[in-house]
Amino acid sequence: MKKRILIVNSGGDCPGMNAVIRAIVKRASREIDWEIIGSINGFDGFLAEPLEIMPLTKDIVEGIHIHGGTILTTNNKRNPFCYPVKQEDGTIVNEDVSDKLIYNLKVFGFDAIIHIGGNQSHKISLKLAQKGVNIIGIPKTINNDLASTDYSFGFQTAAQLATEAVDKLVTTASSHNRVLILEVMGRDAGWIALHAAVAGGADVCLIPEIPFSMDKVIEKLKSRYSADGRGFANIVVAEGAYFKDEKGGIVSGNIASKITAALKEINFEADIRETILGHLQRGGTPNAFDRILATELGVKAFELVKEKKFGTMAIHKNSELTHINLKEVIDKYNKVDLSNDLIHTAKGVGISFGD
Ligand code: F6P
Repeated sequence: MKKRILIVNSGGDCPGMNAVIRAIVKRASREIDWEIIGSINGFDGFLAEPLEIMPLTKDIVEGIHIHGGTILTTNNKRNPFCYPVKQEDGTIVNEDVSDKLIYNLKVFGFDAIIHIGGNQSHKISLKLAQKGVNIIGIPKTINNDLASTDYSFGFQTAAQLATEAVDKLVTTASSHNRVLILEVMGRDAGWIALHAAVAGGADVCLIPEIPFSMDKVIEKLKSRYSADGRGFANIVVAEGAYFKDEKGGIVSGNIASKITAALKEINFEADIRETILGHLQRGGTPNAFDRILATELGVKAFELVKEKKFGTMAIHKNSELTHINLKEVIDKYNKVDLSNDLIHTAKGVGISFGD
């Protein structure tokens, strides 16, 4: 009887998810006694009746590492500890179905789960580990906000895309003497914004870690225009950035329009346009860095299962491929530290953080 590993994706997708699946399967196929099976659509597939699962063989994963998305599909709204269950009267009530999941693991002969996810997903991993499930986590997120690992795959590809967007916006901003605002993802951490602002040469970079003053932003923008109105400016803002005086008012998805409104209120001399980069950052082909990182983490996660190092997450720390207890991962975010060298560098080339 072969040993079975269930792969579950959860949270938003990101470039590299297919590469990590392929790596787990290819590594496992080098041994005769392992079977890898994927749950369709996060935990949904493994909680469905009948199960919606996909046996993952070497043939199935061939060449998928270069593709974006995930062949298993994923879901960022499914938590087995608070899972929507349809009642007899047709209403939906959230219930703890973790025991059903554990029962299914036992009945269908699974030895372990490899759970690929971000911060919220690994809170689930830890709770399952505490209930005795043999689980190994793999960090993924374009936001790079998972603590304990130097990078999560997906981030470098997203930062590259955001940089290309800045590059394009700089040329059109300069042609029209406009202020162009690019809103990128990053609810709790401004890594994508920071990298794109430095790489693309933006004038202003606004991130959740540094609540900004609109006066300071305006000061910087004005310095980019001459007396006759010539000049241009580019702002990169993370979705989770917020005004210094706006207590507790973080609303993702509309910070770019709030900045526009604030500039219009003072009749700022230039035209202002917004671009929301949105899900473009999550899709598409992973770059080489993310493919390599995903492959490393996939191989490592399989080996952690073999070594029975359950309740841990495969990570890359200080250039070493290693693992860490899930307890140390959750509830912590890898935020941009204000003493980070890249903040210093950005300020060194004149980028304003509105502080
Ligand atoms: O967590 C990743 C992330 O892309 C966030 O940056 C963003 O706010 C959110 O997911 C978007 O989620 P959805 O795909 O459900 O719109």
